[in-house]
Amino acid sequence: MADSLSIKDNRTGKSYEIPVQDDSIRAMDLRQIKVSDSDFGLLSYDPAFMNTASCKSSITFIDGDKGILRYRGYPIDELARKCEYLEVAYLLIHGELPNKKQYEEWKHNITFHTMVHENVKKFLEEFRYDAHPMGMLVSAIAALSTFYPDAKNITDENSRMLQIYRLIGKMPTIAAFAYRHSQGMATVYPNNDLSYTENFLTMMYKPPASPTYEANPILTKALDVLFILHADHEQNASANAMRSVGSTHADPYTSEAAATAALYGPLHGGANEEVLRMLEEIGSKDKVPEIIRQVKEKKRLLMGFGHRVYKNYDPRAEIIKKIADQVFEVTGRNRLLDIALELEKVALSDDYFISKHLYPNVDFYSGLIYQAMGFPMDIFPVLFAIPRTSGWLAQWQEMLLDPEQKIARPRQIYTGYRERHVSK
Ligand code: CMC
Repeated sequence: MADSLSIKDNRTGKSYEIPVQDDSIRAMDLRQIKVSDSDFGLLSYDPAFMNTASCKSSITFIDGDKGILRYRGYPIDELARKCEYLEVAYLLIHGELPNKKQYEEWKHNITFHTMVHENVKKFLEEFRYDAHPMGMLVSAIAALSTFYPDAKNITDENSRMLQIYRLIGKMPTIAAFAYRHSQGMATVYPNNDLSYTENFLTMMYKPPASPTYEANPILTKALDVLFILHADHEQNASANAMRSVGSTHADPYTSEAAATAALYGPLHGGANEEVLRMLEEIGSKDKVPEIIRQVKEKKRLLMGFGHRVYKNYDPRAEIIKKIADQVFEVTGRNRLLDIALELEKVALSDDYFISKHLYPNVDFYSGLIYQAMGFPMDIFPVLFAIPRTSGWLAQWQEMLLDPEQKIARPRQIYTGYRERHVSK
């Protein structure tokens, strides 16, 4: 066999030819490798999925060594320059960019699903005044499944599309309601005349006593680009949670609540909040060498640095740096930027970071922009979850339509007692 792997099992002396396709072998092909007939067969052990592909996907391509990110083949910087977030959401879900008519329909369908049931609003109001908005978001998304029992119909294409409109439409509304609750401010309902991002900013910031609010167009555009950069990132922890829960045929709200929960962690989407807390803690440029020392002694992580896949500059971080300049022209320079730039400079010239290929990731600069735009730190991960919804839903739908996929159920290597008995 030309494209194959020859394996010799030195336990038995037997040889096997394992087909190689797409530069990979099927883990199930290892199962035939046994010492005896009653043997279970060879397993591959891969904690944290360091070298295991769990699916075939045509959504997002990353080349971590070259720092490349493409959605459906389109380079991320081109999408960021030429498209709106909702166009990119359409691309992720449908596989192609929309034509004018398709885009108008798509925008209409999402816009007309931005409203939430009054009970969702009441439910959010019952959280404590200082509830973390990610906790509120996870709970509210899960609660949506109780409002839409039709969402269980996951094999029906029309039903799936309806839930996709609802989820993409309602995420900014829930996020803004959670924010207003934390501020003790009355909620602002969605306005169907506004664009997706403009509507979100209006629901966030419109003063209760003012009849109108106009979001700054530069900040609106910057947030829209940030939404594009965060829309998908192939098989990260939250996409994996979405696929895993979705593989049990749970409805998409329940699956997305799980994905949002995975995003909340500080090693994933919660990192943007942690970067800002770290920069606040550092406080001035002269403290940077001390932090770098602590990181090198493994006493702490440099938040916003490193990535499982990128071993080069995260292409999203490069685009974000440029957006930061445009935003700071409107809002004034974020005082923490100098500390961030100094950290980056010191880290990128230090052998510890160079040898481990640790570069700034998407979260290193995004928080500085969010803060300059007036978002409080604990809402940063929510700003990640809003656009990632389109990516999660694309991953979920692809998983459901893939005939090779089944309920996700990893194996384990059991290390506990074989058998023992209660001695009484
Ligand atoms: N600061 C200091 N050392 C680090 C860092 C960091 N941020 N990240 C990785 N390392 C070290 C790590 O200690 C390890 O060293 P050694 O080889 O001596 O044991 C080496 O680099 C390899 O790291 P790893 O932990 O095996 O890498 P991973 O692929 O398991 O983890 C990561 C990836 C993103 C979780 C990790 O880099 C990290 O914790 N970064 C900080 C949190 C962060 O910024 N997360 C946002 C990720 S991007 C947004 C998203 O998609 O969620």
